[in-house]
Amino acid sequence: MADKSAKLRINDQDYDLPILSPTQGPDVLDIRKLYGQADVFTYDPGFTSTASCDSTITFIDGDKGELWYRGYPIEQLAGQSNYLEVCYLLLYGELPSAEQMSDFEHRVTRHTMVHEQMHNFFRGFRRDAHPMATMVGVIGAMSAFYHDSTDVADPWQREVAAIRLIAKMPTIAAMAYKYSIGQPFVYPDNELDYASNFLHMCFSVPAEKYTVDPALARAMDRIFTLHADHEQNASTSTVRLAGSSGANPFACIAAGIACLWGPAHGGANQACLEMLREIGTVDRIPEFIARAKDKNDPFRLMGFGHRVYKNFDPRANVMKESADEVLELLGVGDNPTLQVAKELERIALEDEYFVSKKLYPNVDFYSGIILEAMGFPTSMFTPIFALSRTVGWIAQWKEMIGDPQNKIGRPRQLYVGSERRDYVDFSKR
Ligand code: SDX
Repeated sequence: MADKSAKLRINDQDYDLPILSPTQGPDVLDIRKLYGQADVFTYDPGFTSTASCDSTITFIDGDKGELWYRGYPIEQLAGQSNYLEVCYLLLYGELPSAEQMSDFEHRVTRHTMVHEQMHNFFRGFRRDAHPMATMVGVIGAMSAFYHDSTDVADPWQREVAAIRLIAKMPTIAAMAYKYSIGQPFVYPDNELDYASNFLHMCFSVPAEKYTVDPALARAMDRIFTLHADHEQNASTSTVRLAGSSGANPFACIAAGIACLWGPAHGGANQACLEMLREIGTVDRIPEFIARAKDKNDPFRLMGFGHRVYKNFDPRANVMKESADEVLELLGVGDNPTLQVAKELERIALEDEYFVSKKLYPNVDFYSGIILEAMGFPTSMFTPIFALSRTVGWIAQWKEMIGDPQNKIGRPRQLYVGSERRDYVDFSKR
């Protein structure tokens, strides 16, 4: 892939750095040999200018606001496909035939239950534990239950682990929710589709019949699709780095869940809804805009801004349409939180500070409004993000493990600590 090169001069010595050309997006300067040749590191905290790998899974154009899964634009997949088909696409690279889809759906459906003994794990948590804490613990513990799919060198075991994780994440997320509200766990119903089954496990109770509203199931499914993968974001990079040591897939996904929990990442959907509630009414928006612009105030507009998107996040556009549909369907179209969100977006997008810094609403800005209207507490917003992103994490993990060039990730540093010095005995300090 290197048909061009860049010249680098260090201490009067010239170095040729190959330039690698992508299918789409910026060229890449190949610095793999730089340290060996020139005895220098590159320096890029936060990896704002660093490609950590090559990948065929997801492409983002931050300037155009485009997102493709295996080349298919997200707005087409959200409008015409469904989450389980998107899982197949992300895992295997192509849209499935009817037969392939039927087989995949059967394999996932047959793995939706968890080992009965896993119920005991939940009982070890306080009832008021955040469901993300429970999920990190229980997913990590899957390594102890599914020892037969932790040999990462065996492609078949990697496949089984992928199916188990995609199938069981809704069950475990629903169990975390039920445990937090003191209701009994609800077993998966294999007659239901993926999204309907999740709503069923969250909202049905043994005492009465529960029917999933197909329109809400479609909205849930669309939310899953919009969150399925997103290139080398912080949690995906965490999964890749954990996986590069050969750790088993359940431990790697547990690491991804832990990273996603942060409010700067997947935790933003919960933080955003809490912010919109704190703003409360449209007339208080200017106060919060001022705070977001104040360098001395750590407050940021949650759900705004993105490391890559310097235009609209295409997922936010789809989410905004879905919010209107779902709230209208539920008869809460005049939801005050939605009104505040729309007015906040309008004001921010006209404000020089946000325009100059190219800060737009991201995927987390509207998702919480939909999830709250569907009946989820804010504490379940990030677990739903984690559930959706599991297929992306596992697809990226499989791509890395399957790459013959794969090696353990081990960054270096710019050391700015003490010079070498000798130990000083306590009596002489
Ligand atoms: C997700 O990476 C992914 O793909 C993530 C994700 C995925 O699908 O995996 O898309 C999901 O995590 C979406 C982002 C959710 N996070 C939030 O909504 C939290 C609020 N936003 C931010 O904290 C921030 O925008 C980040 C973390 C998302 C991006 O931060 P960057 O790229 O490190 O940018 P930055 O912090 O350097 O900000 C650039 C400037 C700064 O001002 P200056 O120092 O240049 O003067 O913009 C300002 C920031 O202060 N800024 C904001 C702001 N976000 C950035 N100011 C006010 N409100 C904000 N939300």
